[in-house]
Amino acid sequence: MVAPKCHGDPVMRARGWSVVEYCKLGRTGLDVSVLMLGAWSYGRAAWEGERPIEDEESIRTIQAALDAGINWIDTAAGYGDGHSERVVGEAVKGRRDEVLLASKAMGTPEVIHQTIDKCLKNMGIDCVDLYQLHYPARGVPVADQVGAMVELQEAGKIRFIGVSNFSLEEHQEAVETARVETSQPPFNVFWRQYENDVLPLCIEHDISVIPYSPLAQGLLAGRFRKVEDVPEDIRARNKLMAPGILEDCVAVVARLEEIAQAHGRTVAQAAIAWTLQTPGITAPIIGCRRPEQLADNLGGVGWRLGDAEYREIAEAGEVISAKLDLSDNMWGWRPI
Ligand SMILES: NC(=O)c1ccc[n+]([C@@H]2O[C@H](COP(=O)([O-])OP(=O)(O)OC[C@H]3O[C@@H](n4cnc5c(N)ncnc54)[C@H](OP(=O)(O)O)[C@@H]3O)[C@@H](O)[C@H]2O)c1
Repeated sequence: MVAPKCHGDPVMRARGWSVVEYCKLGRTGLDVSVLMLGAWSYGRAAWEGERPIEDEESIRTIQAALDAGINWIDTAAGYGDGHSERVVGEAVKGRRDEVLLASKAMGTPEVIHQTIDKCLKNMGIDCVDLYQLHYPARGVPVADQVGAMVELQEAGKIRFIGVSNFSLEEHQEAVETARVETSQPPFNVFWRQYENDVLPLCIEHDISVIPYSPLAQGLLAGRFRKVEDVPEDIRARNKLMAPGILEDCVAVVARLEEIAQAHGRTVAQAAIAWTLQTPGITAPIIGCRRPEQLADNLGGVGWRLGDAEYREIAEAGEVISAKLDLSDNMWGWRPI
């Protein structure tokens, strides 16, 4: 049986110059676009290698996403120590009713309580729609971390709870403590860590899966063909861009590009379509620095790779994923 890719039948709606698909957010009954905008780079720290990030350009990109019908945005306290939250808050001023705002915290219950207060201040809002545990904090029971999120919900500071970078066991503990609406794992053609355990659990519990780095930070958009192309920013630490792995990834990207061209699409669009076709995936979080990247990535929605094409790329990506050290995150560290 093919699992539903999102919970409820997706519907297409024309919006301005684009057409975006929508589906249900967990069990909330709310409609969310099947693409979420990622705001990590707008925090500037970690992404300044190639050229500086301009807040004005970040704001234009966020507003273009809203114009195109994307109706949720993912940020975090840790993205530039609140800078990304401030930029997102600024960009959605006057349009708050058009968008669900998601942010993240991590740590002990005390730290989580402090972090939400800063988040609300940074974004200039009274309540954040989706608050996520960014990483499970080592040495703190999952029930205590999720319990702190429930307290924030009861205090009216957040609407819904999400988790990120949680293992199967951590998900199991989380769902015993509270209703969890979203899970945010790393996931793309090459990084398949949670495909066979977390994704089925999310399907079972109607948890929307919003995978991060669907374009492998630009690699699946065809940006990097050799190690020297990788910018001296966060990407320089990405395990997929290490010598010996990057070359294998580039060969798969070249094949994906051929498939994309046969459909009249770009390789970034094919990578997004592939992600959306994976059972259990609700909405990839796309990191767009500029409106032009956003315009390209919107074309990842509303079409499908053929089943054989999907499987060919899935199998080629799995071979690479099996070679990776998955013990820490994509960049080789555990932030907490
Ligand atoms: N929960 C977590 O631990 C976690 C971790 C990572 C990310 N995230 C979330 O997920 C979001 C997305 O992840 P991500 O930014 O790592 O990865 P991504 O979406 O895979 O890649 C984003 C980068 O790819 C390049 N790109 C995007 N579209 C392109 C296009 N059409 N053509 C050419 N290049 C394109 C851009 O690179 P340039 O900047 O070089 O232009 C962009 O910054 C983040 O913003 C964040 O919200 C969460």
